[in-house]
Amino acid sequence: MAETETEHDDGRRDFLFVATAATGAVIGGAAVWPLVDQMNPSADVLALAKIRTSIADVAEGSQVRVLWQGKPVFIRHRTPEEISEARDVPMADLKDPQTDEDRALDPEGKYLVMLGVCTHLGCVPLGDGAGDYNGWFCPCHGSHYDTSGRIRKGPAPRNLDVPAVAMIDDTTIEIG
Ligand code: FES
Repeated sequence: MAETETEHDDGRRDFLFVATAATGAVIGGAAVWPLVDQMNPSADVLALAKIRTSIADVAEGSQVRVLWQGKPVFIRHRTPEEISEARDVPMADLKDPQTDEDRALDPEGKYLVMLGVCTHLGCVPLGDGAGDYNGWFCPCHGSHYDTSGRIRKGPAPRNLDVPAVAMIDDTTIEIG
């Protein structure tokens, strides 16, 4: 008789344990959800995840700067000399080997779109043919980038980053 009561008690304890654990999981889930939901990007952040901009007024041999996700982005319309200079460089000369064809926006290489953030410590490099390689120069610690934005001299460890970018039509690009 006593043995049966013990078995009965054990069964009730198991039931209470399972029920308590399940309730705890529901309450825990409800408490975590607002935190997870809060970590999702807000509508205004999502809106800035991609931007569209016109390149119609970027004259050959000049560059414009736009802001994307709080960072400067350089859009350069290169001259034929800048393009051939970038495409004639042997890969063996590059610290961070990458072909100009892989970096340029279009197959002819007219447009180059890059983050204007030095890959050393994040300064904004000077453009318009600056530095020893006629591309961009970061004055903070002396990094020289070529006409494809590739690091050629100085402490920067890699080329200027090329964001995801696509041509929407002949004069509009989308960054992001
Ligand atoms: Fe550009 Fe240091 S931040 S060289």
